[in-house]
Formats: sequence, structure tokens, C-alpha cells
Amino acid sequence: MMQDKRVAVKVEVCDDYAALSQRAAAIVVDLVKAKPDAVLGLPTGSTPIGFYDALVASGISLARVRTFNLDEYLGLPQNHPESYYSFMKKHLYDRTDLKAENCHIPSGMAADPAAECRRYEEAIRAAGGLDILLLGVGHNGHIGFNEPGAPWDAGTRIVELAERTRQANARFFASIDQVPTRAVTMGIGTILKARRLLLLAAGSGKAEIVKELVEGTPRVGVPATALQTHPDATVLLDRAAAAKLSL
Ligand code: F6R
Repeated sequence: MMQDKRVAVKVEVCDDYAALSQRAAAIVVDLVKAKPDAVLGLPTGSTPIGFYDALVASGISLARVRTFNLDEYLGLPQNHPESYYSFMKKHLYDRTDLKAENCHIPSGMAADPAAECRRYEEAIRAAGGLDILLLGVGHNGHIGFNEPGAPWDAGTRIVELAERTRQANARFFASIDQVPTRAVTMGIGTILKARRLLLLAAGSGKAEIVKELVEGTPRVGVPATALQTHPDATVLLDRAAAAKLSL
């Protein structure tokens, strides 16, 4: 029974998006100071952009840090402007002393995608597991590209994108037809193995799903509620995203 494993998700509310971004960066900076070769799990999307800016501005050395991204579109080459690799290069890799060999993103172009998923999962394990995994959340509750109904014990895998997710991401492409239909993503099982989870959500558009993820019954229909089964999960919110919480 999922409810038996329920643990309260810690909630931190910041005044605004800038404060949220600074706070997320401070958490990661503290971790890297304590463990210079920390293993970070990282998201893309609009929400973490301020966090990457703040992390870069902190001036912390990431020379020994290892990073693993949550996901990548299937069928986009690394150098495609909308690949998650390009996103990471622009917002983080090119602005820090991270070493290229320490930055990991699943390949969206592997000849054998299933083998790529196994390789990625093994690479995370070989690095000692994720010390912290930052996440965003989709309006439908997806985490990574784990859409509603995704199994909670799955490792890195190939998934079909929900239509709503493709529509939400169409803003980055010339037209919806160009948004890939499949992706490689860490599974919810991979996500739950991270030692610490830090989910960022900002803006009133996320208030409903944030309420569901913090206060709703954990269920596979809302992937983000899986955080309630993790012993060390925090959601970092701005006031607008926290507006519907009852506590
Ligand atoms: C990105 C990812 C997605 C996003 C989510 C929220 O790597 O895995 O789950 O975190 O779609 O995206 P934004 O931040 O653009 O609202």
C-alpha cells in the first residue's frame, strides 16, 4: 500500500522566483563545499534557469562534480538547439569549470535505446548514486518525462510523451509537429533512489499540482506524489506556486 510509506514532503516557500533560485543554488553550493565530487541530478525546463544563473554567479568550483540529467528527447542530435544537451551547455556547462567527461545526459540518438537506458542507469550507480536530484514538475504531475501512470519502480527508460507535455514544449519548436514524441528519462525508481530530492516550482500555473503533490494521496496517476514516499524530499516554491497549500 502506497499510503503506508507516506512521509511528509518538506515545503519551503520563498518570496519570489529570484529568491527560490538563490535558495536552490545555496543548497547545491553547500553540498559541493561539503563534498566537492558530489553527484548532482539536474533538470531542464524554464523553472531551473534562475537556479543555474545563481549557481554560476556563486563562483563555486564544479571541477570535480559529476552531473546526470533527468532526460533527453529521443531523435534529437546533441547539437539540435532544443536538445536538453544544448540547454545544459548554454545554461551551465559553458559557464562553469565542470569537466565535459563528468557531464552526463542520456543520448537521444543511440542505435539501441534500450541499451542506452541500461548504460545510463549503470553509470549513475557506478558514480555512487545521486547525492541530490533537482526536479521540476509538469502541470499533469510528470517528473522527468514520467507521465501519469508511469510505474514507480522503473529505471531509465524510453517513454511516449503525453500530448499535453508536447503542447507545453511546443513553444520551443517551430511547430508542434517538430516536438519529438518520445524521450529517454530516468524512471521514478531512479528518481526515488537519489539520496535527496529538491523539486522547484514557481508561478500560479503550478499551484494546483503543487497542492496535489504535497497534500494529495500518493498514486501512480500523479507521478510527483511519489515524492511522498521519499525520506528526504523538499519542494522549493515561490508564493504563487504555494498559494493553494492548506498549511
Ligand atoms: C525537464 C523535465 C520536466 C520539467 C517539467 C517542468 O528535464 O524533466 O519534467 O521539469 O516539464 O518544466 P518547466 O520548468 O518548464 O515548467
